[in-house]
Amino acid sequence: MKVPNKVKLANLPTPVEQLNFRNRKFFIKRDDYTGTDFSGNKIRKLEYLLYEAKRKKADIIFTCGGEQSNHCRATVSAAARLGIKTKLFLWGKDSNSAEGNLFLSKMYGAEISFLNKRNYENVNEIMFEEKENLDKKNKRVYVIPEGGSTTLAIWGYISFIHELKKQVDKRKVNGMLLAAGTGGTAAGILVGASLFKLPLKIFTINVLYNKGEITNKILQLTEGIISEYKLKCRIKESDLEIMDGYSKEGYKNFNGDKIALVSDLAKETGILLDPAYTGKAFTAYYDHFIKKNKTNKVMFLHSGGIYGAFAKRKKYLNYL
Ligand SMILES: Cc1ncc(COP(=O)(O)O)c(C=O)c1O
Repeated sequence: MKVPNKVKLANLPTPVEQLNFRNRKFFIKRDDYTGTDFSGNKIRKLEYLLYEAKRKKADIIFTCGGEQSNHCRATVSAAARLGIKTKLFLWGKDSNSAEGNLFLSKMYGAEISFLNKRNYENVNEIMFEEKENLDKKNKRVYVIPEGGSTTLAIWGYISFIHELKKQVDKRKVNGMLLAAGTGGTAAGILVGASLFKLPLKIFTINVLYNKGEITNKILQLTEGIISEYKLKCRIKESDLEIMDGYSKEGYKNFNGDKIALVSDLAKETGILLDPAYTGKAFTAYYDHFIKKNKTNKVMFLHSGGIYGAFAKRKKYLNYL
């Protein structure tokens, strides 16, 4: 098996911890600890993408997402570390008092183009058109799609399983619950679990796409990487369960009950979750596993995103 090269950026391995919440114990994999500026799941993907960008001698990186995108913030800071500039194409509005991830993206020196929701639907065309213009001026642009979810990037979550296998007892863990945005994290974990023979059912919470769309995205990525890298493994669709209905308020919003739960978790365990991804995923974990006292074999993945909470701090403060 030929594993692609990567540039080392993340603090790995991230710990597995046991928490106690409302008198129930559960395991959590702390991918919020991958770094400070690079915190969260995105950096595992960026290690592979930015190696490729460096190899191709990119002058600038283009990528896209919401104005509070964790992926965009992690890209800008990691690229800055490697001496590469980034241009972000963000769905949202500029603000003089930019908060959370947008504040950080600005601090790390991103050039930013803001798009409304309608224009953002064509963000790939917009990025490629601008790339073509720069190509003509002999500027090398490396384009990273939304969420960094490519077949190259998801090697980050294949190697995550290699790391996890050394940390857990196979007899004690048989599932993992996580949030899915573009689906790359879930796809990498599915392939990694099959490749490294760690039987793991993946429960994922779709925060951005509907159930059918996210299922297709995840399975297309798994099929893509298996055929591109000729991996000797097979994905069973039954190893993936989408827990739908936890983002009814919309990707950029976070509703009251969920904030109250996240607030209680913070008080009892000292762990903060974000509004777009992990807060929604933890609500599902609470309903399906903690409440039913079924946590013993299914771990929760903290995939980071904490800076998104700062942008919603007024809402969070209402639930103290
Ligand atoms: C904090 C956090 N968790 C989970 C995800 C979902 O990752 P993916 O896009 O690979 O599904 C993202 C990114 O979109 C994220 O920022």
